[in-house]
Amino acid sequence: MTKHLLLGQTLQFHANPLHDDWQNACTVDSAGGVLIEAGRITAAGSGADLRTAHPDATVTDYGQNLITAGFVDAHMHYPQTAMIASWGKQLIDWLNTYTFPEESRFGDKAYADMIAGRTMDLALAHGTTTLTSFCTIHPTSVDAYFEAAATRNMAVVGGKTCMDRNAPDTLRDTAQSAYDDSKALLEKWHGRGRATYAITPRFSPTSTPDQLNALGSLWSEHPDCLMQTHLSEQHDEIAWVKSLFPTARDYLDTYESHGLLGARGLYGHAIHLEPREIDRLADVGAALVHCPTSNTFIGSGLFDTFGLAARHIRTGLATDTGGGSSFSMLRTMAAAYEIGQLRGTALHPSQLMWLATEGSAQALHMSGQIGHLGAGAMADIIVLDLASTPAIAQRNARATDIWDALFPTIMMGDDRAIADVWVAGKPTA
Ligand code: GUN
Ligand code: ZN
Repeated sequence: MTKHLLLGQTLQFHANPLHDDWQNACTVDSAGGVLIEAGRITAAGSGADLRTAHPDATVTDYGQNLITAGFVDAHMHYPQTAMIASWGKQLIDWLNTYTFPEESRFGDKAYADMIAGRTMDLALAHGTTTLTSFCTIHPTSVDAYFEAAATRNMAVVGGKTCMDRNAPDTLRDTAQSAYDDSKALLEKWHGRGRATYAITPRFSPTSTPDQLNALGSLWSEHPDCLMQTHLSEQHDEIAWVKSLFPTARDYLDTYESHGLLGARGLYGHAIHLEPREIDRLADVGAALVHCPTSNTFIGSGLFDTFGLAARHIRTGLATDTGGGSSFSMLRTMAAAYEIGQLRGTALHPSQLMWLATEGSAQALHMSGQIGHLGAGAMADIIVLDLASTPAIAQRNARATDIWDALFPTIMMGDDRAIADVWVAGKPTA
């Protein structure tokens, strides 16, 4: 059997550095090695030891570059790829002005195929090996997404976005068709190859209580699927939810009372949470997804990474393309750092890297499978050049340790920092 041995600096996590002392949560080996067999990592440790133990392995020596798990984007909208960075609107106006017209195009399979392929290629070029995406209301958009991922052998999560009110005619389904289409799509795609289906009500303002109920029932019939939605992103949105659901205790209750709160639920943004909401999310073991470039770009607010981690609520990191302003998880980590600073807390580079890999994988219930540089995980691996531009290189030259060497790439890096990408044990270049 073919064996590949990657040599370089390696970063491995053993625990969550947001809970434990970050020094004990990870190991950096300045002369590490990662052994790949049949698409999986079978060993990670000393490069010299692995070389001696596996003389038959094909060796790729990345020198001083940093080998890490591929980035896991835990919330994005592939149909918004072509309208990323659209100017001047906050959430509801941004949806109506830019997003809905673009999403209306995805009933056209050829267009959906083109944008799905483009998104995956952009993701890989930026070191993202797993995407978690909202598709559009069109089943074709879901087929296009999972087909594009299968072609590239990528592990992805996605689902048909459901909306039966407060959206243009071209983008509305019904409670029944949302149930029927989502059921057919999850039966087709969930667990096929590396695909995972997420039942996907967009957010409470665009679903009637009937539709939320129907999707809650579907989730209870398929509890191994994930469920993804949005929660408490902007003040205007929260006020709108209150007016649409006058008897709900809070925003989260609009999901909870319709069977849409659970441990396999992914709640994007979750910025302006009330104490009851935080308690319930913690009680049920739900996951939150922090989308920092989106939160600054659309003007949403400051996610409380440390406060929510202190409650042991699982948290992933995400671009939220195209509300987010970058395809890069490096830029996304930088924005998470900046939001932390605005809240008075500096996230350590180990904590940022953990969120972009292990944290997102944990949110998706895929710990140990993806986002992990260790034996047993799929070999979705990236190699970071820590001196990828003149500006980063000159700062890197005076680094005192690996974290000081990595931090300029987190803050200033982009796709130029991605020296190599392996998906399921194969190089993508
Ligand atoms: N809330 C509902 N839909 C969306 C979306 O497409 N992007 C963002 N950022 N928030 C949303
Ligand atoms: Zn979103």
